[in-house]
Amino acid sequence: MIRTYNNIGLKPFNTLRLDSLCDCLVEFDAVEDAPSAVSLAENQAIDGKIAIIGGGSNIVFSEEYHGVLLHPAVQGWDVEMLGNGRAKVTVGAGVELDRLVSHLCAVGYWGLENLSGIPGSVGGAAVQNAGAYGVEFGEVVKSIKVWDIAGKKFLDISREELHYGYRHSLLKEPEYAGRYIVLEVCIEVSSDYSPRLTYGPLKALSSKENLTPAEVRTAILEIRDSKLPKVEEVGSAGSYFKNPVIDSQEWKVFCKRLESENIDVESVPRFVLENDNVKIPAAWLIEQCGWKGRTLGNAGVWHKQPLILVNATGNASSTEILNLESAIVESVNSKFGIELKPEVVYL
Ligand code: EPU
Repeated sequence: MIRTYNNIGLKPFNTLRLDSLCDCLVEFDAVEDAPSAVSLAENQAIDGKIAIIGGGSNIVFSEEYHGVLLHPAVQGWDVEMLGNGRAKVTVGAGVELDRLVSHLCAVGYWGLENLSGIPGSVGGAAVQNAGAYGVEFGEVVKSIKVWDIAGKKFLDISREELHYGYRHSLLKEPEYAGRYIVLEVCIEVSSDYSPRLTYGPLKALSSKENLTPAEVRTAILEIRDSKLPKVEEVGSAGSYFKNPVIDSQEWKVFCKRLESENIDVESVPRFVLENDNVKIPAAWLIEQCGWKGRTLGNAGVWHKQPLILVNATGNASSTEILNLESAIVESVNSKFGIELKPEVVYL
């Protein structure tokens, strides 16, 4: 089924709960609806402006979106046993990621438990390569089924072709962004004991006997509860910025800045990557600039995790969120010489 909504308020379609307006939203339920839904959207779109949205958990809408939003709401999943405890699960792109994770944990499959509690859809997770607590969604993806808008055909794209990286996939590369609508995601999970407990607070679980995916899920949900706002209570788009990665040359420049700011280099949390590049938590940089817990108008910086920008009063506008973003980017740049890049997508 295909549904069309004209002049629609977007508050229910974004977890930042921005009350933006959109000319037209086209939503469809079945894989085979995709070609007709796209034709319908193309007929409605002034200047052909069409964007694809999933669960809206990583989007900052402008105050008014003049164009058509396409929302694949394909539901349901099929499980195919592969032997050796492995299972192939084909999931509709519109399935809420946490519903899938909760189900797989309950029936004893390992693979997605560390991604418990992440808001958004399965399709969005496949595009963004959503990640948390040492695991990225792309690690379980085998392939995705898409409708190729430009080529007017269905395609299966394999994990190898998806070029997964840190919050990155082929579908985020400029030449492909907006070309493919993700309809189904095929993942592989396993009932063989394979917990991923590298993230600090999870290490304690490794000594627990007969640990289950459901127990890891409970621990993850507790960690999330202690740091992140609950989507039902406070609007946010999760991490607003990416954690910056700097090379060894930039690290030297950064160390000079630390010296002039009287900050001991040893106090800087950091992760050295294989190529000697260094990832510095954006949360730390933002906190050092004094932003943790501050508000600017109706927009705010979450008091327990400054990487999360929130709709503090529920009435924040897109402009207020963007003003807060710019103010933070400017302070971090002037104090540390590092330019934060947004993790969110603007529409
Ligand atoms: N930190 C501070 N102050 C704080 C909080 C954190 O200085 O108030 C520093 C600490 O040094 C801490 C470090 O930041 O060790 C990292 O913090 P955290 O473990 O909370 O993770 P993060 O790097 O801030 C990333 C992801 C999150 C994911 C967590 C856990 C990105 C952009 N964000 O955040 O993903 O949940 O790791 O794995 O990579 C999301 O993408 O929307 C998201 C929430």
